[in-house]
Amino acid sequence: MSLLQQKLQEIIRLESGVTCLTLTDFRNYKNLRLETRIAPIIITGENGSGKTNILEALSFLTPGRGLRSAKLSEIKRIHQIDDINLLAADSWSVAAEIKKAGELHTIGTAVQKGSSESADEIHSFERRIVKIDGQKISQQSELGKYLSAIWITPQMDRLFQGGPQPRRSFLDRLVYAFDLEHAKRTANFEHLYRQWFQILKSGKPDPHWLKSIERDMAALGVAIAAARREQIARLNTFIAHEPDDVFPNVRLELDGEIEKMLDTNSALKTEDYYTDLLAKQRQRVIYSESVDGVNRTDFKVYFQKKNMPAELCSTGEQKALLISIILAQTKCQILDKGFAPILLLDEVTAHLDDLKRDALLHKIQDLHLQAFITSTDAKNFHVLQDSAQFLQINNGQIYPTL
Ligand SMILES: Nc1ncnc2c1ncn2[C@@H]1O[C@H](COP(=O)(O)OP(=O)(O)OP(=O)(O)O)[C@@H](O)[C@H]1O
Ligand SMILES: [Mg+2]
Repeated sequence: MSLLQQKLQEIIRLESGVTCLTLTDFRNYKNLRLETRIAPIIITGENGSGKTNILEALSFLTPGRGLRSAKLSEIKRIHQIDDINLLAADSWSVAAEIKKAGELHTIGTAVQKGSSESADEIHSFERRIVKIDGQKISQQSELGKYLSAIWITPQMDRLFQGGPQPRRSFLDRLVYAFDLEHAKRTANFEHLYRQWFQILKSGKPDPHWLKSIERDMAALGVAIAAARREQIARLNTFIAHEPDDVFPNVRLELDGEIEKMLDTNSALKTEDYYTDLLAKQRQRVIYSESVDGVNRTDFKVYFQKKNMPAELCSTGEQKALLISIILAQTKCQILDKGFAPILLLDEVTAHLDDLKRDALLHKIQDLHLQAFITSTDAKNFHVLQDSAQFLQINNGQIYPTL
């Protein structure tokens, strides 16, 4: 066994994951309490039974907007009160007992109504509140110190096709796991971008204010680019040293002007360049054209052995490439953070041939971490018969199956 494998096993021996999950008025669940093992957990049920909703609820135990990037108001349970009318619950909550490298903690999250008053209006809004071990916390990013989740959803089957936005978000999520500040940086960058746009659109921009926003955007942008570069390098190095025996090895390449500039220039020089680049693009912003910079970064994935870009690979090959990235990320995260993430794998076996499907399940089992795996068909999982927890959903209730 390699040194790295030994280290992985030492960390994983101290269990991490969710041991009890409670949902209240969350999507189709009025009340649900579910005890779970630190093991593969196979959740089966018909279409629309509530499998993905469970994974989404689990994703709300980590920072961000969950695995569906949903609006908070969409999540509260809607139910029919008669033939015509629907009623929505006032709020929703997800609570969990978790283990982090063997330590017990509780996490709770819920939406709360708030309001703000401006000159002539009262705006009401909903926000997510988070408690860790009973204490309300002000920064969601704190959650990342207790529980981490990595997910694959059916929407990601098309990750390598189409526009760069979903790929950029995927990449940024890979970065957050290592660098909790990255989420704040990307949110602040977007906030400044919107401000910049508003000032330019107003038609009477104050040049000092503009310059100062552009400088702040450039500083944040360079930090974002540097963190993305670090993550891509980390994954490429890991994959080069620990090639997988079944899933194809990938090569990841960042495709962004600011990220490229950091290849040969200092952060300071890149920041100056980026500030000038933003100033040159003011006209484009006014006409709502997209602006060059870290908001346009993309990343390319290659099937290494064939030197084939992922977008030209077959559907099953693309799924295998995605799994390769996720497996490497999982192992890097375990080694870096000292605790294992939970895996949320929604219909992950779709498009995989039998060999790859069984290999994936064996790999998850051998990692000894907690993986929630959904499917409409329990037959796909016979290789995990002795190690997994099998659950079936029916009418908003979950039952163990044998
Ligand atoms: N806010 C809500 N309130 C009540 N029900 C909701 C809400 N949002 C979604 N649902 C319902 O929850 C049900 C379960 O959805 P979910 O996506 O979890 O199903 P699933 O088991 O993953 O199905 P599939 O196999 O098709 O992926 C759906 O019927 C959906 O309409
Ligand atoms: Mg689903």
